[in-house]
Amino acid sequence: MDLTKEEEAILNGEKGEVPERMLRLLVRLGEIYGADKMIPIGSVQVAGVSYKSIGEPGTAFLEDLAYKNARVKVLTYLNPAGMDLENWKTIGFPKDFAKNQIRIMNAFKQMGIIVTSTCTPYLAGNLPRFREHIAWSESSAVSFSNSVIGARTNREGGPSALAAAILGKTPNYGLHLWENRQPEIKIKVTAPLTYNADFGALGWYVGKQIKNKIPYFTGITDGNTDQLKALGAAMAASGAVALYHIEHLTPEADLVNTNDLDTIEVGPQEIQNTYESLSTGKNPDVIILGCPHASLREISEVAELLHGKHLKKPLWVCTSRVMKEAADRMGFTTTIEQAGGHIVADTCMVVSPIEQMGFKTTGVNSGKAANYLPGFCKQEVVFNNIRILIKEVE
Ligand code: F3S
Repeated sequence: MDLTKEEEAILNGEKGEVPERMLRLLVRLGEIYGADKMIPIGSVQVAGVSYKSIGEPGTAFLEDLAYKNARVKVLTYLNPAGMDLENWKTIGFPKDFAKNQIRIMNAFKQMGIIVTSTCTPYLAGNLPRFREHIAWSESSAVSFSNSVIGARTNREGGPSALAAAILGKTPNYGLHLWENRQPEIKIKVTAPLTYNADFGALGWYVGKQIKNKIPYFTGITDGNTDQLKALGAAMAASGAVALYHIEHLTPEADLVNTNDLDTIEVGPQEIQNTYESLSTGKNPDVIILGCPHASLREISEVAELLHGKHLKKPLWVCTSRVMKEAADRMGFTTTIEQAGGHIVADTCMVVSPIEQMGFKTTGVNSGKAANYLPGFCKQEVVFNNIRILIKEVE
């Protein structure tokens, strides 16, 4: 890699131990993937935030960095933590878990990281622009920023994202380069897509088929940002799709080369089969919405559906603290709580310890959550659209 004089000085240890260690990590990564140089980035999103995911070794690593005065150079947000950082007691998160989660948040805060823990940073004040280079970690956020915004990021691991944040740079390879953003397969969608869950089912099915290829969708005539985040999240979960294009909808779709691509068709039967294969259980004992973290539009829809109802079982809507505060002001939180639900901020059903909270079967409207809940949280899953799920617990 071509390194600048300043980068050479960092590698020689002239700027201290932490920058040297961080740059060594990024240079090694760059060399593995054939990067020619380091490039400046506009923002970072760091994964590996929940105590459930990183445990004691990860927590000690972060505390050590904070103790050694590591500071981030660019706007840096966090992936969901393991609990609601303000209302964890009311919702019933275990006390020992909370103590360790708070240690993690303190370490990040000391490094200058904005402790907004969300997989939808673009809805909560970390919005990149078209073609901006960024270093984000969480797979649905990576997919959304690459595909819907047209920013450029590889899927960073927790340590490489943290290193990028501390240096304000990332190695120039993969999806940072235009030639690597070209579609590799066409997906012709003939199924009608109504609910956000339909987009999640489509994404899950396509991810399974194409693994880590870049798809170019045709036949999706409309889709709001909530639906596109559901689509990308599920594709990144069942496959490893970090970028997709949709004809006439996403910003790079008219710029890429679509000649000579094989085509896969997805019709109503494939969507129906996906709902069936992801639903491993019956009679959910909790409904958890907001994967990826709910937007204000999604929260308002839940509030409208729950207005005047009394649920027989718990319902959570996972979101960022920023959206939760807006929902509080709009009265959506009160409506949802009066029905017996909770808006749970800063965390989600997959990274929080729901299996320790007595839940065995979870109802979700997210293809991504349906994909991960059995393995990560030992849950049976009911995967369906929001209206049917709410009927299950009314
Ligand atoms: Fe976000 Fe958790 Fe889903 S991190 S995308 S809500 S699994």
